[in-house]
Amino acid sequence: MDRIRLTGGTALHGEIPISGAKNAALPLMIASLLTDEPLVLTNLPRLTDIATLARLLAQLGVEIDVLNGNDEWEPLTTRTEGRLSLGVEQAKRLAGFGPDAKYRPGGRTIRLTARTIESTHADYELVSKMRASFWVLGPLLGRCGEADVSLPGGCAIGTRPVDLHLQGLEKLGATIELDKGYVIARAKDGLRGAEVRFSMPSVGATHNVLMAAVLAKGETIIENAAREPEITNLAECLVAMGAKIDGLGSSTLRITGVDKLHGAQVAVICDRIEAGTYAMAVAMAGGDVTLTGADRSLFEAPLQALSAAGITIEDVDAGLRVARNGTPVTPVDIVTQPYPAFPTDLQAQFMALMTMADGNAQMTETIFENRFMHVQELARLGALVSLHGDRAIVSGVKALRGAPVMATDLRASVSLVIAGLAAEGETVISRVYHLDRGFERLEDKLSNCGADISRLAG
Ligand code: EPZ
Repeated sequence: MDRIRLTGGTALHGEIPISGAKNAALPLMIASLLTDEPLVLTNLPRLTDIATLARLLAQLGVEIDVLNGNDEWEPLTTRTEGRLSLGVEQAKRLAGFGPDAKYRPGGRTIRLTARTIESTHADYELVSKMRASFWVLGPLLGRCGEADVSLPGGCAIGTRPVDLHLQGLEKLGATIELDKGYVIARAKDGLRGAEVRFSMPSVGATHNVLMAAVLAKGETIIENAAREPEITNLAECLVAMGAKIDGLGSSTLRITGVDKLHGAQVAVICDRIEAGTYAMAVAMAGGDVTLTGADRSLFEAPLQALSAAGITIEDVDAGLRVARNGTPVTPVDIVTQPYPAFPTDLQAQFMALMTMADGNAQMTETIFENRFMHVQELARLGALVSLHGDRAIVSGVKALRGAPVMATDLRASVSLVIAGLAAEGETVISRVYHLDRGFERLEDKLSNCGADISRLAG
């Protein structure tokens, strides 16, 4: 298993290109199930989560082609004995590893064509690897009237139930049974529009019900819908495919079902979590970096927290300039909440920054019940953090010191990287596969800005 080795203490200078958002790309890829025409996605990031989903979509009957350097479509999926699949080498390629692994900024363009849905069964093996796979449920039900999808199971950051997804789909007329760890959903006469009110704004449930509703008969109103920009990216894609949706970006989505959707071309929005992470990396290590392609409007709350901490944030033509040159870091309290408030996916990184603040800061996590796994590992670097239920009190220290640490989930692992950048001496992070799920070529992006960081294969 690969590890990341880094030596802290070097300020970052230069440019970091921000990739397309993983959490937007995944539902956009899934939307390809809704039409028999090609859906072309541009600005796709190179990540293992993208490859995992592509493998599942291929099993369901989605042909996937990638635009190569000569502007030609190259097939990634192959058919053996009648079954479509995405081979290991092609999956590696989509994830940014393999023969064309050399780092190059700029996302990929892929074409997904679900001419016919060949299977409505989403297997445990792939759904358990990545929760977003569960979101194939809504579109499969919408297009085929049936789906058997494995329950995703728990994960490191909390229990993460799917009750809201299932309640929403039942409202649209699906019958749902649970059998041997699978959700067996049926809507033999098709889905019907209905009013769906979520008790909390779940990102995944909004994606799932929205994709089911676009092909349902009549009008669906989703109340208390999540408003994350990735949902708006999906809704805009669905509209480009011929869906009728009002209220984009708001907590009430009105969908008028249509008989059929068609192909479209859509760009994946920039990754606000990746941009926020690198902004926090610069804040920790010091220096002056332009985050090219970063869109301030997608992550105002974390940028405000960074400004309050004394970090310079400036709009420039290419994106956002982030700088800290010797000034101390002011402690800032944050509370994670649904968009547009401070995102849970940046809590660990902001906590890392607060470990070197000039005083105490309080992090309150309201989205996931177990998202403080990074605290024990940050402590290995010398951080002082005490836990009180859903709150963590971080007491800034004069200096962190490098140590071997272990990644526990995607965002926790990157918090260890950015803490390591500010620590004295060497930090080695194991279980790097977590990072590869959601950060494209992290070590290249940081070493291009002067960080002493490399991947240890093994
Ligand atoms: C999405 O997860 C993201 N994943 C997560 O990013 C992100 O942390 C999360 O939204 C919150 O912003 C993707 O987009 C692929 P939720 P999701 O449903 O959809 C509870 C990352 O690191 N809930 O909004 O699973 C749930 O337990 C990942 O990239 C129910 O109770 O999140 C949680 O407490 C991690 N019942 C809260 O709602 C349900 O049916 C929010 O979860 C659904 C959710």
